[in-house]
Amino acid sequence: MPQAVRKAIFPVGGLGTRFLPATKAMPKEMLPIVDKPLIQYAVEEAQAAGIEDFIFVTGRGKHAIEDHFDVSFELDTMLRERGKNDMLSAIRSWMPSPGQISYTRQMEPLGLGHAVWCARHLIGDEPFAVLLADDLVLSQTACLKQMVDVHGEIGGSVVAVVDVPREHTDRYGILDVGNDNGRLASVTGLVEKPKPEDAPSTLSIIGRYILQPEVFDHLDKQEKGAGGEIQLTDAMAATLGTNPFHGLRFEGRRFDCGDKAGFLEATIAFALSREDLAMDVRKIIKSYTDT
Ligand code: UTP
Repeated sequence: MPQAVRKAIFPVGGLGTRFLPATKAMPKEMLPIVDKPLIQYAVEEAQAAGIEDFIFVTGRGKHAIEDHFDVSFELDTMLRERGKNDMLSAIRSWMPSPGQISYTRQMEPLGLGHAVWCARHLIGDEPFAVLLADDLVLSQTACLKQMVDVHGEIGGSVVAVVDVPREHTDRYGILDVGNDNGRLASVTGLVEKPKPEDAPSTLSIIGRYILQPEVFDHLDKQEKGAGGEIQLTDAMAATLGTNPFHGLRFEGRRFDCGDKAGFLEATIAFALSREDLAMDVRKIIKSYTDT
């Protein structure tokens, strides 16, 4: 049986320039969808998948993330004194236990592959997950849980994938695939941001990965790829052939919250998925579309 996936890396070292000025003094990962920061959705998804160790790869100006995953004594005391137990639970119930979270610094934002490599000593020699908080998934079963279940059956590496329009392939990591049963596709190649005419398929990797520690052997070389960045996709491509590698078309809907339109769409979709907000939000949307 494949070794269980117990550890997850959350790369949060990016600069978030597409959201300036909001991200001038606040990490992009702390932007809220309705009332919860992006990074909390990602951590809760990992918890739902059975992850026990949460490794954040941070950079300068990311203190708000550490504070968010820490006890706030003043707020706790004030809410307890006022008998606001539901709010107390809203700020505490989802927090990993003491010692389950570690932080390491990327020091320089040299690319996603570099951010993942910075966590190599905390991962050691076991399979691990990577979650990018700016990719948000609304699903019945947590996206990473779906991937962990596939990994539990066939092992190796598993990436979550979606079909994208061909004209968008140059924004994403794209798969070359062999066997494809419509849900699971075996990966025969990976290429970062190919031009539409060069793309081997339109299956794009989203920010959810289960990887094997061999990926660090390639990342050790610090080779730069597309855009002059150290790309995770290139390191994953280098491990092809050593282990099974699959793309999973997961159940659920993905929102690219690193992009303004995607972020706004996620806000609407998550608000509509909430019982306390859906009716009001529907009315608001209708009032704009009726005019
Ligand atoms: P993006 O490509 O969205 O970059 O990174 P970014 O800097 O966050 O945002 P923009 O493009 O300037 O607006 C995708 C993910 O990889 C992480 C980011 O934090 C984000 O989760 N990342 C990227 C790092 O952790 N380090 C890097 O060097 C690059």
